[in-house]
Amino acid sequence: MKKQTDPFPEPLEEVKAHSEQLKKLIQKTIKVQGGKISFADYMNLALYAPGLGYYSAGLKKFGQYGDFITAPEISPLFSQCLALQCIEIMQQTQQTVILEVGAGSGIMAIELISELEKQAHLPEQYLILELSAELRDRQQKAIKARLPHLYKHFVWLDRLPQSPFYGIILGNELLDAMPVHLLKIEQEALFERYVALDDQDNFIWQDNSPENPRLEKIADSIRSIHSSLQHLIDKPGKAYITEVNLQAIDWIKSIAEILKDGAILLIDYGYSAQEYYHPQRSMGTLMCHYQHHRHDDPFYLPGIQDITAHIDFSSIAHAGKESGLQVCGFTTQAHFLMAGGLVELTKDCDPDDTINFYETARQIKMLTLPEEMGELFKVILLSTDKRLSLAAFNLKNFQNRL
Ligand SMILES: C[S@@+](CC[C@H](N)C(=O)[O-])C[C@H]1O[C@@H](n2cnc3c(N)ncnc32)[C@H](O)[C@@H]1O
Repeated sequence: MKKQTDPFPEPLEEVKAHSEQLKKLIQKTIKVQGGKISFADYMNLALYAPGLGYYSAGLKKFGQYGDFITAPEISPLFSQCLALQCIEIMQQTQQTVILEVGAGSGIMAIELISELEKQAHLPEQYLILELSAELRDRQQKAIKARLPHLYKHFVWLDRLPQSPFYGIILGNELLDAMPVHLLKIEQEALFERYVALDDQDNFIWQDNSPENPRLEKIADSIRSIHSSLQHLIDKPGKAYITEVNLQAIDWIKSIAEILKDGAILLIDYGYSAQEYYHPQRSMGTLMCHYQHHRHDDPFYLPGIQDITAHIDFSSIAHAGKESGLQVCGFTTQAHFLMAGGLVELTKDCDPDDTINFYETARQIKMLTLPEEMGELFKVILLSTDKRLSLAAFNLKNFQNRL
């Protein structure tokens, strides 16, 4: 969740120097690649270049003093609700291994396993797959400090398991951190937005034909979602810019290949394709976050700011189904939490303990109010078994919108 406050802070000199180093690396890559790289390659370097990218370097990132705040950072109630849903999956599948992908500061793992311990449902193992070596180090330190007695349950992976996997896969705000391709759709023409350099070596957009044929196929299906989209781009000078997250689609397919028995729960901001590719969203959803300031310039200080795009959950559902998984639920974060035990988890909250009571109320509002995270954030459940049914999807299941 990212909030805007004023004024936009001036970065420190050392921060600018760090960004300058990454900028040089990206400039060099563009030159070596013949003058342009896809935006997905640019975003990949900006976020994950070893030691320099936004997620790979040692910046604060999460929480009040970072650039954005995620649900598990807002409240332990989020991870506790997820834990209750994990118990339901464990009971229905008999699988007791959890794999969290993209664990950030490690806070969700800490709160989730603590709740599982409290409920006498400790997983056999809690695996973490994290791209960033710096975050992995941070996760290990945090878990060791907060839960020394449970540390033995944790195992860090370098890549997705190569052998068949049995268990639960979790990812909160994982997919939105995957690099996206940018498309520009005009009347009859389709362009991919590449990143090139001007004569001063500044990053500039360069629109060319897409090199990857998958993008053309996806653009055709985007055109067909809303007839009014064609009306919009038929107007002279009008274009429709949007993102395509091929990495998220491929990631779901890789997971589907290894998951033999179990489920995947993914939480992120986004929409069904109908809403995502609405003609009104003609500039896409690409967004940058720097110290709780939101803007749309991905070329500003690479490595210092987060770059992200919303998720087209229909493409995730489709990728899952194509690879043999079942979509067992799709709902808003608010409905997921309200039906998934949020109220029960707060039943012991003492109204006479005013500070704690109001703090808990504030956290619940942030997680569930429509104008906060409640509606924009969605939860999707994919499974190897179509009979899997979780209480958290009982209030509202919007599966048919995908
Ligand atoms: C926006 S952060 C969310 C962190 C955390 N889940 C939370 O909710 O606070 C995205 C996380 O996903 C990780 N990540 C992105 N792509 C990944 C991938 N393909 N495999 C593993 N981790 C990934 C990033 O390094 C980062 O930890």
